[in-house]
Amino acid sequence: MSSINTHSHLFYDKISRLYPLIEVFLRPQKRALIHRVNCLLAGNLLEIGVGDGAHLHLYRNHHITGIDTSEGMLKVATERKIKNVLLIRMDGEALLFQQEQFDYIVLSHVIAVVNNPEQLFNEVFRVLKPNGRVFILNHFTPNNWLKYVDHTFAFFSKKLHFKSVLHSHEITSRKKFKLLDEVPLGLASYFKLLILQ
Ligand SMILES: C[S@@+](CC[C@H](N)C(=O)[O-])C[C@H]1O[C@@H](n2cnc3c(N)ncnc32)[C@H](O)[C@@H]1O
Repeated sequence: MSSINTHSHLFYDKISRLYPLIEVFLRPQKRALIHRVNCLLAGNLLEIGVGDGAHLHLYRNHHITGIDTSEGMLKVATERKIKNVLLIRMDGEALLFQQEQFDYIVLSHVIAVVNNPEQLFNEVFRVLKPNGRVFILNHFTPNNWLKYVDHTFAFFSKKLHFKSVLHSHEITSRKKFKLLDEVPLGLASYFKLLILQ
């Protein structure tokens, strides 16, 4: 697709078959995300950076659209043959959807990966219905010993197309959204689930 101008999709194309090995470590926190999403009334849910679709089968009720820039990741997701899920190759920073189309938007381990988070949030805000909810699951650099790990890893993480140093206030301070909940997860609260409206 010509509108995709990132290089990370080439990286994710290459690692698409290995990604399940990484995903194993993300799974425990994803359970908290899926639980919160499944408690909501049925709606139109968009997952941006859906990856290999490993957790898509866990969603109940909702009509799911998953987008990703990596053909390789989408191929693995498609092979899972999950019912009632629409998978499309699309850039989260340039969504080809109408405004106010989705009730819920999920960003699972994607905000540290996109080129331009500001642009991603502009697009999320545009396609989200008024009073819709955004679920952000990610690692966030905590104010404990783990911050040294993130800072040490910062240079190397760029080579792996993600940002190791990321603070939750970079997201929660955005005025466009209201923070509904901030759920610490994982060892030393390294992961967080942010729920925004
Ligand atoms: C770390 S993986 C997370 C996959 C999945 N969401 C999960 O939680 O396991 C990040 C995914 O975001 C995708 N991605 C990166 N930039 C993107 C963008 N601008 N728009 C859509 N997807 C993007 C990558 O191709 C990759 O599949």
